[in-house]
Amino acid sequence: MYHNPTARTFRSTSSIAPAVLDFHKTLPSYAATPLLRLPNTFSTSLGLSSVFLKDESNRFGLPAFKILGAPWACYRTIIKKLALSPTASLQDIAAAARGREIRFHAATDGNFGRAVARMAGTVGVESRIYVPRIMVEETKRLIGSEGAEVVVAGGDYNDAVKTAAQGAEEDNGRLGLLVQDDAWEGYEEVPQWVVDGYSSMMLEIDEQMHDAVEKSPDMVVVPVGVGSLAQAVVVHFKSKDQSPMVVTVEPDTAACLKTSLEAGHRVTIETGDTNMCGMNCGSVSFLAWPYLRDGVDASVTVTDEESSRALQTLRDMGISTGPCSAGTLAALLKVCERDSSTLGLTAASNVVILGTEGPR
Ligand SMILES: Cc1ncc(COP(=O)(O)O)c(C=O)c1O
Repeated sequence: MYHNPTARTFRSTSSIAPAVLDFHKTLPSYAATPLLRLPNTFSTSLGLSSVFLKDESNRFGLPAFKILGAPWACYRTIIKKLALSPTASLQDIAAAARGREIRFHAATDGNFGRAVARMAGTVGVESRIYVPRIMVEETKRLIGSEGAEVVVAGGDYNDAVKTAAQGAEEDNGRLGLLVQDDAWEGYEEVPQWVVDGYSSMMLEIDEQMHDAVEKSPDMVVVPVGVGSLAQAVVVHFKSKDQSPMVVTVEPDTAACLKTSLEAGHRVTIETGDTNMCGMNCGSVSFLAWPYLRDGVDASVTVTDEESSRALQTLRDMGISTGPCSAGTLAALLKVCERDSSTLGLTAASNVVILGTEGPR
């Protein structure tokens, strides 16, 4: 485990656009996703008061949290490009986009691209989604089923991002719009909108924790790919006076954040294969990095085997989820076994793990 004791006192001063949750509520079939309490006997066996899983297995009918970030980013991107009112409705956008030959371009390792494709369909524009060479056929089929053209880019996720950026720039007379959750110098606004979109999940957790235990969580465990979701977690929870610890989890074959935290700067790594596909990323978002460097209390890696065991544990509790979600439980089990006292966990601690996807 990587541990940063100074993150305990880090306070985020960034604020998130308050209109985000209101926007989400205008999307078809908005509902807060459940915050599931794991059995008390289980929490007690870990030396904790409670463990909750935020279950993102069905967010607007898609099996992952990504649908929170992509639509807000697509919405803001179109509004800016067409110079529409910042409070334009989805109908206003669809009307303004008609006949303009707009196409969204995005690289993905799964859910993000599917969410962009879904939003493109909602406002009646086209989408071209770029995927890495190694991607299961079913994932490609699901992206295509949202109406997107799926393009297999030559190499890994990072290559797909480069190809998407090129595709948006050279879109043969169309208005190509890049909607990407990964940030780099000069491309920061859109990824920031993606992160802002995730804030609705945190606001729901605040309310649900209050209803369940009348307290904020003491620890939040978040899965990391490029780190955008973790950025939203840090920005939201570390802005509070009584802020929880933020623990990140990555596959041991794609530990770009942990490697970067240990090095003290962003490091790009080669990634291997993992069943936690959504977390298979080789570099941390440029935008997320300062928040994660300063606000992440602990960073943990887990193996596919550990995530699979945790998946089975959740199944035995009647919770059907995916490998990335199970990765957070695997990380919590590791932390409780080895690092409980380092992190100051006690029998009064309430932990939230982010179950970011449904079963694959
Ligand atoms: C299911 C799932 N969990 C976690 C993540 C990690 O999110 P981020 O890339 O913002 O770190 C992803 C990213 O695609 C994902 O699909």
